[in-house]
Amino acid sequence: MNRIDRSKPTTIVIFGASGDLTQRKLVPALHTLSCRELLSPDTRIIGIARSDYSDEAFRENLYEGIVEHSRAASGPDDVCQLWPDFSKNYTYMSGDLAELETYRRLGDRLEAFDRESDTRGCALFYLAVPPTLYTMIVERLGRSGLNRSDKGWRRVIVEKPFGHDLESARRLNQEIHQVFDEDQIYRIDHYMGKETVQNIMSFRFANAIFEPLWSRNYIDHVQISVTESVGVGHRAGYYEQAGVLRDMFQNHLTQLLTLTALEPPVAFEANVLRDEKAKVLRAVSPITDSVRGQYRAYRDEKEVAADSDTATYAALKLQVDNWRWRGVPFYLRSGKNLALKSTEIAIQFKEVPHLMFQADQDISPDVLSLCIQPNEGIHLRFQAKEPGAGMQTRPVTMEFHYAEHFGAGALPDAYERLLLDALNGDASLFARADEIELAWSLIDPLLEQWEGEEAPPLAFYEAGTWGPSDADRLLARDGRAWHQQCCTET
Ligand SMILES: NC(=O)c1ccc[n+]([C@@H]2O[C@H](COP(=O)([O-])OP(=O)(O)OC[C@H]3O[C@@H](n4cnc5c(N)ncnc54)[C@H](OP(=O)(O)O)[C@@H]3O)[C@@H](O)[C@H]2O)c1
Repeated sequence: MNRIDRSKPTTIVIFGASGDLTQRKLVPALHTLSCRELLSPDTRIIGIARSDYSDEAFRENLYEGIVEHSRAASGPDDVCQLWPDFSKNYTYMSGDLAELETYRRLGDRLEAFDRESDTRGCALFYLAVPPTLYTMIVERLGRSGLNRSDKGWRRVIVEKPFGHDLESARRLNQEIHQVFDEDQIYRIDHYMGKETVQNIMSFRFANAIFEPLWSRNYIDHVQISVTESVGVGHRAGYYEQAGVLRDMFQNHLTQLLTLTALEPPVAFEANVLRDEKAKVLRAVSPITDSVRGQYRAYRDEKEVAADSDTATYAALKLQVDNWRWRGVPFYLRSGKNLALKSTEIAIQFKEVPHLMFQADQDISPDVLSLCIQPNEGIHLRFQAKEPGAGMQTRPVTMEFHYAEHFGAGALPDAYERLLLDALNGDASLFARADEIELAWSLIDPLLEQWEGEEAPPLAFYEAGTWGPSDADRLLARDGRAWHQQCCTET
């Protein structure tokens, strides 16, 4: 973060300022950026929602979120020292976003800020509202002329989910494009803001030794696992409609897939990088092997139908059909209520072609694990000779941990990075329209299949396990097995 420019004076407008995302993520991230002097002190933040707050009540509400969630809040005292100063920049406007009058008042405020401070017409609109409101707000911003400014830039951040399927994502893109140009639109997937996700690119392209091995010549297969240890909880109503494919695969797992598989971009620039990501998605063959699971107690959750068919677990096998990856399967899995919370990419290398040691020895192939979270780091498992006579070998692991090398708490929250990038006009870590649609076009046929007669059977699994045994069989058919997750809490 230190080598990133501090933002220039801007007005940030948060639509949905009384909501969960604002309190838990956005404002704690903005506060940390202020504490690290990465946010210009002339930044003005306007929160809008229907709830009736005074500026003071709004700030008190935000303060609670900061104490609990901001990385800069190592203790309440820290926050107390800085918050009274920063909090003056936060104001609240009560209003219904369906009404044009709200946007007229917002326009007046933006102009007042431009007169009072150095914001020069620059404004970032953050849609922290239910997805059903995205189009309406964008349309009203356009009708009120707030999508453009003669003096400075205007940008909009759109939260996930972006669409419900390919058709709705396309429609949403079209509707937003009627008001904003593509380079004004920042579609967020907070996974891209994670340091360890960005490090996939540093690991591959800032080192000379790994990239030559990064292909079908040396890699046997890739496993991408995003496992959660909790059930659907209070999100059951949303989840019942979405299911695991929409909730995790169309966005987070696809991002991890593209960064693992992409060709070296010629520059770390938004469109260059996103071109390469899009090429990966274009190369993925239609997915034919999938497992659909549900944890046993799911149907007992509140707001879940007693005969619900919603999948809370999925495992897929897919092929990236290009020169680099032809014949290397990518196995993706994600689910709720599993044994551990962990996100990990395991690259399994091919077996040695000839074994000159004792034939009875079981030599497991080398595995490189990129630990996205928790216990962020990288592990390389390889064979080492056991000390003593003979030539017995055994797997050992070399490990790098962020906390050890950079200190505990060194990893920024994803929203810190993404907010700062959006303020600085860097869209590299945000999804472009075509990328979103390509990701949906991978998942859409599977959604259709799962809702039709060809659906794989719904495999039930116990909470606290690694999911249904069908997922083990998916790999066993290819003579492979899921790796034990190594990115677990130490
Ligand atoms: N929460 C998370 O961790 C998270 C994570 C990833 C993505 N997201 C996405 O972020 C968005 C916001 O999520 P959230 O969890 O913060 O939702 P939330 O807690 O339900 O908040 C929704 C906000 O929208 C406001 N709102 C609704 N209708 C309005 C209207 N007609 N006019 C003005 N304001 C209106 C609500 O305020 P009033 O009721 O006061 O008007 C509230 O401030 C969603 O798209 C969600 O999918 C959230």
